[in-house]
Amino acid sequence: MDNFWTKLDKPFTVLAPMENVTDYVFREIVCDLARPDVMFTEFTSAHGLSSPGRERVMKKLMYSKRQKPIVAQIWGSQPESMENAAAIVKAEGFDGVDINLGCPDRNVMKKSAGAGLIGNYEVVEKMIASVKKGAKGIPVSVKTRLRRKEVTTKDWIGFLLKQDLSALTVHGRTPEQQSLGEADWDEIGRIVEMRNKTSPKTLIIGNGDVKSYAEILEKYNKYKIDGVMIGRGIFSNPWVFEKTLNPVVRPREEYIAILLRHLDLFEKTWGKKRNYAVLKKFFKMYVRSFDGANELRDSLMKTENSNEVREILKNLV
Ligand SMILES: Cc1cc2nc3c(=O)[nH]c(=O)nc-3n(C[C@H](O)[C@H](O)[C@H](O)COP(=O)(O)O)c2cc1C
Repeated sequence: MDNFWTKLDKPFTVLAPMENVTDYVFREIVCDLARPDVMFTEFTSAHGLSSPGRERVMKKLMYSKRQKPIVAQIWGSQPESMENAAAIVKAEGFDGVDINLGCPDRNVMKKSAGAGLIGNYEVVEKMIASVKKGAKGIPVSVKTRLRRKEVTTKDWIGFLLKQDLSALTVHGRTPEQQSLGEADWDEIGRIVEMRNKTSPKTLIIGNGDVKSYAEILEKYNKYKIDGVMIGRGIFSNPWVFEKTLNPVVRPREEYIAILLRHLDLFEKTWGKKRNYAVLKKFFKMYVRSFDGANELRDSLMKTENSNEVREILKNLV
């Protein structure tokens, strides 16, 4: 079936879902700097979307037109609440819905969700069918990891490839590895070969450790994936989605202007609803690669509110 995924030029690029990082605010900043072909929301609890605290959870599904195409990622353990979540995602006008089957967080896995579902064929088959029902025609994708303990990649990915998904993102690690070690791209390459034989319509998005446009091209040429998803690579280079082999070094003023815009938008969007500490990840992201960056970052890390940050930056812009 035709949908936005099928219209993308290859290799297409995707901003990874990252809890407390890729919120509405950061996605706006990424649009300002260098946008990927597709954006994902942070993972959103299907259970939360059906609970009395729904309003707060819905904030995770805020987006702007220029963030499109945008896919909402949902997680849960019950096919019924996942169907309801998919229906909400569709009603909110998202371009697609993604099922998280890879989160290795102990609390998520304990609830038989995220990577806790790897190898649970019966529930996952029902869940994908329910999400498709709720999604009413918008494309359904899955993001997962290679395998889990006694479950082999061949069995797990082979099973997912039979589910007629629009796209399958594979992070080249196991849940036990968390973020340690290197992502196994050779295994991702073998998954592409499996896909070619059994499910040519499902796009394969490779994920893990990619940090530049040069690496995107390298992975595409070597492993023939359709797209590349980048998460932490944007921490070391906010312009990581710029399609250039010769990235320019940005001056201090540019980084500081971005930081100030992020602060303003964060306050406007979240008020006191998100913890100030969440912003500190962004200080590390924007305060780098210029003279005096280390000292400046150290002082920003000690701040307790955004006014203190503005005070420190006042003389630098
Ligand atoms: C801070 C953080 C939050 C994350 N949150 C999510 C999430 O909400 N959903 C998800 O599927 N993966 C999540 N991930 C995993 C990333 O999407 C990605 O699969 C992983 O970081 C490997 O890709 P990378 O090497 O490009 O970062 C998160 C990773 C990080 C570092």
